[in-house]
Amino acid sequence: MDHTDTAAMPSSADAPPQVDITLDVNDTEHHLRFDSRVTLLDALRDHLGLTGSKKGCDQGACGACTVLADGRRVVACLALAAQYEGRKITTVEALSPNGEPHPVQAAFARHDAFQCGYCTPGQIMSAISLIAEGRATSDEAIGEFMSGNICRCGAYPNIRAAIRDVVAGA
Ligand code: FES
Ligand code: FES
Repeated sequence: MDHTDTAAMPSSADAPPQVDITLDVNDTEHHLRFDSRVTLLDALRDHLGLTGSKKGCDQGACGACTVLADGRRVVACLALAAQYEGRKITTVEALSPNGEPHPVQAAFARHDAFQCGYCTPGQIMSAISLIAEGRATSDEAIGEFMSGNICRCGAYPNIRAAIRDVVAGA
């Protein structure tokens, strides 16, 4: 006996539209097909297996999902993946291709700029962009421009110290 509830099953007319897109992530092109509503964060984590970018709030409020698009910060949980075709996406996985930590990663380690580490990939991506923008000019400026990256462990003084350290050594 077939107990399938066909009334509850979505018809093909209800199926979300699929899109074919090419995403350039960490200098590799990926040809993907998925629901047009997939966020950049879910595309990275669920379709490409790049789980370094974290899902915290999933509503743009914590910064844990921060990645770079053409060098600029993006909260990937609010970005539709399909809108990022043709952009160069950089995630935390790209920072140490030869096993050598990126200078910002090394500074975070030196300054104990994390506890649980959940916010850390987003903090590091945000810090890299902030430093490249030349805006990490003071503790106040760092605090202001990193205000979208929340750390529930309260590692803010150490995060600021790590960023100051990189700027001083640049
Ligand atoms: Fe994207 Fe919180 S998970 S901002
Ligand atoms: Fe735990 Fe930032 S290190 S949330």
